[in-house]
Amino acid sequence: MAWVTQTLSSSLGRKVIMSLTGLFLSTFLIVHMAGNLQLFKGDGGRAFNEYTYFMTHNPLIMTVSYLLYTSILVHALMAFILTRHNQASRPVKYAYSKPEANSDWSSRNMGILGTILLLFIIIHMRTFWYEMHFGAVPMAEYDGKEYKDLYTVVHAAFGELWYSALYVLCMIALGYHLAHGFQSGFQTLGIRHKKYTPVIELLGKYFFAIIIPAAFAAMPIYVYLQVHHII
Ligand code: HEM
Repeated sequence: MAWVTQTLSSSLGRKVIMSLTGLFLSTFLIVHMAGNLQLFKGDGGRAFNEYTYFMTHNPLIMTVSYLLYTSILVHALMAFILTRHNQASRPVKYAYSKPEANSDWSSRNMGILGTILLLFIIIHMRTFWYEMHFGAVPMAEYDGKEYKDLYTVVHAAFGELWYSALYVLCMIALGYHLAHGFQSGFQTLGIRHKKYTPVIELLGKYFFAIIIPAAFAAMPIYVYLQVHHII
């Protein structure tokens, strides 16, 4: 177990752990976004409720969920430790440093973007995950089988203007966080290749920074418009 303590106590080890957990969280986002697209189906919530039932009853996915919760916590903790460490080792800023000249905005604001996302995840899990596991969620019945009606919970939450607006703003933070984070994860792991690095950069810049956050942001907007009979 000495390697665990060694990894956790070196800056490089902590960065590698941040990369691995960050890339795992990025993969989760693809699955979560694809599953939540069921909200757009217009079937009264059946496909969405069946999907959430599957995600919360399949033993393999349930095990992966614990890895997911751990990854969120470890990713945030490592970021916090690394930031504190960097501040302690350079208490006085370089007199002539001009960070805006040689790095982009998202890379310089990963800490604040990550903090916004951590708060978002806490609020999000309180609304959906906690309600599903410990709350009094209404039931829906399809073909004689009972399902927790999370579709109704989603509609109640996204029917609130402030809650939907908060989601849209947080998805902008997600886009900026992933714009730097996704490709930076590969860089830290030393994965550099003439052919693949440009593909990774394009994936980060368009798929993770724009398409995924836009698809997530479209959900509260769509549900809000539906709840208020605007569409
Ligand atoms: C905006 C559209 C979104 C909707 C409608 C939505 C919906 C839900 C629902 C219903 C659950 C509980 C059921 C389940 O585990 O599948 C859940 C869990 C969760 N969501 Fe979301 N979500 C959205 C966006 C996000 C985003 C952007 C993130 C992360 C940045 C996120 C992170 C999570 C996490 C970590 C869980 C716990 C997963 C688990 O227990 O395995 N969600 N979401």
